[in-house]
Amino acid sequence: MKKLLALSMIMVLSATALFGCGKSGKTADGTVKKGKLIMATNAEFPPYEFRDGDKIVGIDAEIADAIAKKMGLELQIEDMAFDSIIAAVTGGKVDIGVAGMTVTEERLQSVNFSDSYATGIQAIIVREDSDIKSADDLFADGTNHKIGVQTGTTGDIYCSGDAEDAGCGTVEKYNKGAEAVLALASGKIDCVVIDKQPAIEFVKANEGLKILETEYAIEDYAICIAKGNDTLTKKVNDALKELKEDGTLQSIIDKYIKAE
Ligand code: ARG
Repeated sequence: MKKLLALSMIMVLSATALFGCGKSGKTADGTVKKGKLIMATNAEFPPYEFRDGDKIVGIDAEIADAIAKKMGLELQIEDMAFDSIIAAVTGGKVDIGVAGMTVTEERLQSVNFSDSYATGIQAIIVREDSDIKSADDLFADGTNHKIGVQTGTTGDIYCSGDAEDAGCGTVEKYNKGAEAVLALASGKIDCVVIDKQPAIEFVKANEGLKILETEYAIEDYAICIAKGNDTLTKKVNDALKELKEDGTLQSIIDKYIKAE
């Protein structure tokens, strides 16, 4: 009886190994739905992703579209909170997360990342008359600044560690970067830590703000894919490589980021 039980367990286990497709997707491409490449993003992050009317446009949307075309798939974009993207990817609701997402050790515990397609910089936005002149001023002993961030971003993670846990400031979390910047403009908080390109866009849209010259952190942006879905990771990397080599990637970036 015991043997029989063991045997049937082995059969169940190997069937899962053979046919189990939860993590690696159901189609030959490793995607969740035939004919589609479903991308999760948070369209609050210009110039990488933002709304133009009811369309989601930007660098990430165009790169993902180019990848989908190379794979012979149709891109479908799902807009959600930034801190829901990884769960959507690991839960098999979407195929990829493309959201100016920084590769971090911690995220690598739960997802695969493609090769990097851009560099991100964590910048600090302050009011023009601010006494914060550099990142050091922000994290110096004895200071107590209110730092605005977008929930779940690396800005949030770093500042929660470097300022809040170190006892030299408090972190105010906002659903959207633009909301943090509005709070800064109206004097509710002292600065916003956010990626540089969106920072440039947000500062343009508000009076009386500037970006500090000193950068807080330099990072790699990449596309996240369910952990263990090596089929899709390889296809995305192959497509990315072609887009880098034929100049498409650079021309998409140049379309949205004009040299300063
Ligand atoms: N690079 C930062 C991170 O990965 C911020 C990304 C925010 N992206 C967005 N679409 N809102 O945490």
